[in-house]
Amino acid sequence: MAKGFYISKSLGILGIVLGVAAVCTIIALSVVYSQEKNKNAENSGLGHTTSTTLKPISPTSATSPATTLDQSKPWNQYRLPKTLIPESYNVRLRPYLTPNDQGLYIFTGNSTVRFTCVEPTNVIIIHSKKLNYTSQVTLKGVGGSQAPEIDRTELVVPTEYLVVHLKGSLVANGQYEMYSEFEGELADDLAGFYRSEYMEGDVKKVVATTQMQAADARKSFPCFDEPAMKATFNITIVHPKNLIALSNMLPKGDVPLEGDPEWNVTEFQPTPRMSTYLLAYIVSEFTSVEAETENGVKIRIWARPSATLEHHSDYALNVTVPILDFFAKHYNIAYPLEKSDQIGLPDFNAGAMENWGLVTYRENSLLFDPLSSSSSNKERVVTVIAHELAHQWFGNLVTVAWWNDLWLNEGFASYVEYLGADHAEPTWNLKDLIVVNEVYRVMAVDALVSSHPLSSPADEVKTPAQISEMFDSISYSKGASVLRMLSNFLSEDIFKEGLSSYLNNFAYNNTNYLDLWKYLQKAVDNHPSLNLPATVQTIMDRWTLQMGFPVITVDTDKGTISQKHFLLDSDSNVTRPSEFNYLWIIPISSVKSGSAQQDYWLNGTMEAQSDLFKMSASDWVLMNINVTGYYQVNYDDNNWKKIQTQLQTNLSVIPVINRAQVIYDAFNLASAKIVPVTLALNNTLFLNQEKEYMPWQAALSSLSYFQLMFDRSEVYGPMQNYLKNQVTPLFNHFKTVTNDWKDRPQNLMDQYSEINAISTACSNGLLECKELVSRLFAEWMNNSANNPIHPNLRSTVYCNAIAQGGEKEWNFAWDQFKKSTLVNEADKLRAALACSKQVWILNRYLSYTLNPDLIRKQDATSTISSIASNVIGHPLVWDFVQSNWRKLFENYGGGSFSFSNLIQAVTRRFSTENELQQLEQFKKNNMDIGFGSGTRALEQALEKTKANIKWVKQNKEDVLRWFTENSS
Ligand SMILES: *[C@@H]1O[C@H](CO)[C@@H](O)[C@H](O)[C@H]1NC(C)=O
Ligand SMILES: *[C@@H]1O[C@H](CO)[C@@H](O)[C@H](O)[C@H]1NC(C)=O
Ligand SMILES: *[C@@H]1O[C@H](CO)[C@@H](O)[C@H](O)[C@H]1NC(C)=O
Ligand SMILES: [Zn+2]
Repeated sequence: MAKGFYISKSLGILGIVLGVAAVCTIIALSVVYSQEKNKNAENSGLGHTTSTTLKPISPTSATSPATTLDQSKPWNQYRLPKTLIPESYNVRLRPYLTPNDQGLYIFTGNSTVRFTCVEPTNVIIIHSKKLNYTSQVTLKGVGGSQAPEIDRTELVVPTEYLVVHLKGSLVANGQYEMYSEFEGELADDLAGFYRSEYMEGDVKKVVATTQMQAADARKSFPCFDEPAMKATFNITIVHPKNLIALSNMLPKGDVPLEGDPEWNVTEFQPTPRMSTYLLAYIVSEFTSVEAETENGVKIRIWARPSATLEHHSDYALNVTVPILDFFAKHYNIAYPLEKSDQIGLPDFNAGAMENWGLVTYRENSLLFDPLSSSSSNKERVVTVIAHELAHQWFGNLVTVAWWNDLWLNEGFASYVEYLGADHAEPTWNLKDLIVVNEVYRVMAVDALVSSHPLSSPADEVKTPAQISEMFDSISYSKGASVLRMLSNFLSEDIFKEGLSSYLNNFAYNNTNYLDLWKYLQKAVDNHPSLNLPATVQTIMDRWTLQMGFPVITVDTDKGTISQKHFLLDSDSNVTRPSEFNYLWIIPISSVKSGSAQQDYWLNGTMEAQSDLFKMSASDWVLMNINVTGYYQVNYDDNNWKKIQTQLQTNLSVIPVINRAQVIYDAFNLASAKIVPVTLALNNTLFLNQEKEYMPWQAALSSLSYFQLMFDRSEVYGPMQNYLKNQVTPLFNHFKTVTNDWKDRPQNLMDQYSEINAISTACSNGLLECKELVSRLFAEWMNNSANNPIHPNLRSTVYCNAIAQGGEKEWNFAWDQFKKSTLVNEADKLRAALACSKQVWILNRYLSYTLNPDLIRKQDATSTISSIASNVIGHPLVWDFVQSNWRKLFENYGGGSFSFSNLIQAVTRRFSTENELQQLEQFKKNNMDIGFGSGTRALEQALEKTKANIKWVKQNKEDVLRWFTENSS
């Protein structure tokens, strides 16, 4: 699945703004997105009413209280026994897109599974979840095998099995076919075979679609639902004749249903051997645009008919062709299927899902509206597409045997998505963004004692809940970071050589991560000139089997280099043991005063010495070039000073990614109390000469914590002055480049940098910037039908214009919000409305959030959070939450997970004893009501408030003095 999934799996997701998302590297803020599904009971005229009455025949017994599972019974184990191996399925499903007499949306189905017995057994255990069986299950032998009689069937709910007890035994090597008929609910629960609803004008439309990963294929038909149980699937979908059915493969044909001409039967080609979690089928009235790759693969992008007509699919189509060709060359294997469909769904939990040949996306991750979407919307589309298409080989053709190795699948796709997207948009420098979006982002999490190793033992991952836990930022972003490091020290060519032989060797089969190491090792052995200090596995074990990462410290006087487990909180205790004692085998790159790169290995020892790191009085050394290594770097004072001097005199000598690195690393080191906070601040002095996006982004995200801690104190004035001085040259630069803000810069990084320039200049009080945004906004107000503000700049222009403006500006934006039909645009306005500086306006807006006619329920908590992030709105929201907790909880609490988000937002600035007491009191006062999904967030908030109090105490004076001295 696409990144972003792990924050949403059990929580739902409101929409992730990637690209310019601020990441606080000082204290890892665990962001929780929330969603409340818009339940709409309205009826549609779509499809054919189901008058079919089915009398469910219950299995003979439905048993098993979860608490008393007898572990000796194989059906009480979460993992399938190894007795039966599936070979092929015929599955026929009929989704009803209108509710039945009981008001229930359902699907009916039947299926045959052919399997081989490898160990004699008298029981068939097959996954089945929330399915009702409507006839007796039957069994027959094939190829001469005799099937024993069925004794009884039962459903075991906790382990999600259909269990067929037999009167005799299945014999080893015998082949059998089991047939069943069943029905299930086509619920709007975003899992298994489910329904998605959207409005087209005033008409509600229903789509039947699927999300099988990780363990919900079993909710659609009975199946051996583990990734290693690969089989071929013959899918048939019965659907209303005016709609189109899609699945992993192309259809064989589409014929009227015998006896019911309102329905059609679409039978699909058999799939290759594949895992159940990659199946997909969709019934909708969507339309498509199409193209072909060099090798004749048919490519289609599916969307709501109106979105197709408005050309929102065109960008996806344009980038899919080069990305598919890129991966075919990269892996040295042709795309394994005849076609590649991609579809944008109105209701979809994950960012996207890589179903083989039929990839599903949230609309905002596939569709791009050139008129009103920004560059970061576009970047999201191309990177998510590249991620999902990378899986078509790595993950789909070759699949990890069990979910404990999910990190290999997701880490790999999260790494190569940057390569694929870079191929489609070669001028955007997308490859560099991995450092901001993955490496530093996940380091903030991985530097806590609560982190965990990439690799988990298979027997610790069994239940669906445990499988879900695998989808976290460690799997995605740390996985991507260490695979990028590996590719780098092997060289991309050797990495590709090993990768290609791995994929060719295991095509249509399953592996574990050690298989990849083995094939990479073979490639390494073919190139004796590559000098590794140990085998691939020995090196990588240190990065995959122990959590965290090292900080290396270089002393340029003595020429020593040492390593230590990096922990953001220097007071925390590591309780998780590591067989490697938290020492790593580290590939180290360095440059000395801008000369050529030198490579070195710190080979698992605490400390080493090399002349490479011994500097003369005038030379400096810089380590971890382009941050290809997954570690942080500290130097002796002298070397830090020389780097700072170099940056301030001629920054171009230091690569742009390393200019971001010195800022990120120094702020992280400061928060771990390894260097003084003033050293980190000194590393930002060169920004008045910096035009590039990444170093600025490093500074702004690092300083966002300072803003939260100090924007209500005397530190803030000098801090704003400092930032204003630093950003003014950047602002002027873009003013020139863009011809007085009329054009946009050519490349993406510059476009992002332009946005940072305006938002930083305006929020820190640069007069010219304030005039600019007011002027642009006023032009729009004068002619509301014609928005003159470029989509890239809308978020920041709206926010700053509303902050400076009064009621008139706010009301105009509110009207535009109410009128907006595009979700991207509405979201920008809704966030900007929270930027007002008027207490009464903010209070009124806050009251709107409790009125679903004004702010949709699903948007309420994120709107409240936006208001809380405004320093003036913050105390209002805190009052509001304290006095309305019961109402909030009753109206929005049912099954929704948005409370953790809300509690985080409203406590983010807390940094005084008084606030701590208020928070404790709040907890006491509302114990009887409870905190629901916010319970853990509340505990974290109490802890974080204490940490903030400590941090402010320790640093406030130094920070104030520093900003005062450096803001004149
Ligand atoms: C699915 O179709 C293929 C090709 O027609 C056939 O070989 C296979 O036996 C079918 N599977 C089942 C379970 O009948
Ligand atoms: C399912 O039912 C249909 C319609 O009765 C039938 O044609 C088909 O053969 C059945 N499918 C399987 C897998 O037996
Ligand atoms: C399955 O059976 C249960 C129990 O009788 C019932 O509540 C549920 O609605 C049925 N589901 C479907 C899809 O018919
Ligand atoms: Zn993925």
